[in-house]
Amino acid sequence: DKGDFKHFMAKEIEEQPTTLKNCINEYVDKINNDINIYNFPWNIKEISSVTLIGCGTAYHSCLMAKYWFEENTTLEVTIDIASEFRYRKNRFKDDNLYIFVSQSGETADTYAALDLCNKNNMKTCSVVNVIESSIARDSNFVLPIHCGQEIGVASTKAFMGQMLVLYILVLKLGILRKDLDKDLYLNKIKDLKLLPKLVEQTLLTESKIQTVSSSFTDAKGSMFLGRGFSYPIALEGALKLKELAYVHAEGYPAGEMKHGPLALIEDGMPVVVLAPRDNYYKKTISNMQEVIARGAKVLLITNKSKDEVFSENIWETVLVESANDDLLPFLLTVPLQKLAYYSALKKGYDIDKPRNLAKSVTVE
Ligand code: F6R
Repeated sequence: DKGDFKHFMAKEIEEQPTTLKNCINEYVDKINNDINIYNFPWNIKEISSVTLIGCGTAYHSCLMAKYWFEENTTLEVTIDIASEFRYRKNRFKDDNLYIFVSQSGETADTYAALDLCNKNNMKTCSVVNVIESSIARDSNFVLPIHCGQEIGVASTKAFMGQMLVLYILVLKLGILRKDLDKDLYLNKIKDLKLLPKLVEQTLLTESKIQTVSSSFTDAKGSMFLGRGFSYPIALEGALKLKELAYVHAEGYPAGEMKHGPLALIEDGMPVVVLAPRDNYYKKTISNMQEVIARGAKVLLITNKSKDEVFSENIWETVLVESANDDLLPFLLTVPLQKLAYYSALKKGYDIDKPRNLAKSVTVE
């Protein structure tokens, strides 16, 4: 039931503070500021590296997790697109944990990658929404994302849920392995408890996004740039715009622009720059200036701060809430979901069922 919403996608975006809260309640012991992951089937010493595998949006949450794993643990991390992984000559390693991320739990390529790992007797874990799914059933261990049924074909709340569960796993492995200092761990959990509220406040960036969205639908194409923790979100923002508004959008690491894509920038081209005030801020802002100098219309998405952004000629700025660096990706995601939503709405497209796509991709 869509309730008062026009589309399931709109409803699922607005539900995110609640779905995140529900998920936090499942995993976080709020009194002791600890994370509970019950029945983890392996001894922590048996795991020295992690491989994360998924398709589409789920792959983007794998990429996000790589940044968090590297920041908060000393584990070696690789990520893979399921349709690539399944046909490569992989080096299977006994001390590696294979993590499969899938909303539906039925994606053919992701299942095939899991099956391959199982046949090689690897340690397999899945991060799913649908717990009665093939991927959940056939993995050694399941971490549900607890976000409720997702109906919109374009994933929104499930992406947030995947990121949340992966982040929770990162912190837990970080503390168990003693990679994370106890105080830092406690602080990160305290911060995490505030996430639903911060997402709720960030949902209010609505009107500005609505106004700028027509520039994205009218343009030949657009780019989404970010560095570090913001790079996976840039990829996800571009994917959402492609699949919903049927316009070309490219997600790119901001530092790579000089190596080719800068040639695409022409007068009036809309470019989203994700530049929260983390360690990458200055670098990203300088990349932003380079695209502005070539005529790009920049929609800057950053977080609220005392200091002003000292750059001229920015077309529009959207401010998300502030949070610790680890949590900024969740907040940056929200305006990008809305951007894709309003772009598709303006064109009158079928938002909950974009053309050529299916919710569950059960064929390769
Ligand atoms: C994009 C989207 C797809 C899915 C992908 C994997 O909005 O929804 O890219 O993320 O098809 O699906 P699951 O997560 O069900 O394996």
